[in-house]
Amino acid sequence: MNDAQQSIIAYCRPGYEVDTGNELTELATQKALYGYPVFKAGEGYIRFQFHEPEHAEQFINEVAVSDTIFPRQMFLVLASIAIEDKSDRIGPVVHALAQSDISRCGTLFVDYPDTEEGKALAKLCRKFAVPLRQALRARDYLTRKEQLNLAALHVFFTSGEACYVGVSQAKMRSPFENGICRLKFPPKAPSRSTLKLEEALLTMLSARQREAICRAGARAVDLGACPGGWTYQLVSRDMHVEAVDNGKMADDLMATGLVDYRAEDGFKYRPQMGHVELLVCDMIEKPDRVAALMANWLTRNWATHAIFNLKLPMKRRYETVRAAIEAVGSQLASANIKATMVIRHLYHNRDEVTVAVIREI
Ligand SMILES: C[S@@+](CC[C@H](N)C(=O)[O-])C[C@H]1O[C@@H](n2cnc3c(N)ncnc32)[C@H](O)[C@@H]1O
Repeated sequence: MNDAQQSIIAYCRPGYEVDTGNELTELATQKALYGYPVFKAGEGYIRFQFHEPEHAEQFINEVAVSDTIFPRQMFLVLASIAIEDKSDRIGPVVHALAQSDISRCGTLFVDYPDTEEGKALAKLCRKFAVPLRQALRARDYLTRKEQLNLAALHVFFTSGEACYVGVSQAKMRSPFENGICRLKFPPKAPSRSTLKLEEALLTMLSARQREAICRAGARAVDLGACPGGWTYQLVSRDMHVEAVDNGKMADDLMATGLVDYRAEDGFKYRPQMGHVELLVCDMIEKPDRVAALMANWLTRNWATHAIFNLKLPMKRRYETVRAAIEAVGSQLASANIKATMVIRHLYHNRDEVTVAVIREI
């Protein structure tokens, strides 16, 4: 067994390898699983090396991508492959699978890092996926029809000559190619920020939560709303929005009749009717200040649920996020509020993470 077989691969935004490594180290340690991250800064992924092979397997079976902050995708490594003959990339993958004891998988991902070098591999991955899928089906490593409820096979190219082959469980992985939720920019939205809230609503809430919270006629407050990308998402779900900001809101949004614009300080604002279903906040402020404000709204029941962004500092980003989240968590606990907290570094985020605090519904 070589080293790579005791490890997992986690993709992340390039530049976030340290944070991803810190997070996985802490998550593993909490489970009494031990290892260390191996990476080069800017490569858009890390390999987390466990000391014991069964620790890697336990980790991947117990920690879902959606439970983490920085990883976009994770899989258990079965083999690290150096491709010597570029005319045959399939042979080494099949050979690696033959050496493993995996059972039949339901789908195949052929991915690459989200870097400039990685993007140059996109064409190769697309072209390679078709014959590889056929070869794997012919050898019974893959079901004839895609079955998303089964384990997935991953081939992750780090260059044209090297790839990792691995496996993930259905409920634990990201459903997206390269772990990236791509969205089309809605032409009528006033800012690209709209995609952050759209991605959050689609990937951080269950369908049931989305329907219950973002329903027609429900009320929301948007702190730091201008020019209105987040408000756009709520209004397009027929919600009434109190949009708070000193800036200017897009005229189209105002024309919907669903927006109540307030030129006020988001740190002092109170909901007009004493309560809203959803509080959203995209003010660029210190994370601890935003976290305290969100906790205040939730514990005073000015809002039932909250979705907000926390701006990340240049250093100690994972630690800063954890501290802010723990502050919110302990305030909710002392107010006896039961809520799930999901924190994700979304594809459409830059140097910020999105937090969804959803009360039990
Ligand atoms: C990143 S922008 C928000 C973009 C918006 N979510 C969108 O999708 O169009 C941050 C906004 O927060 C506002 N802001 C910052 N501090 C604020 C405060 N104390 N009260 C109200 N708004 C504030 C800024 O004026 C700015 O418009």
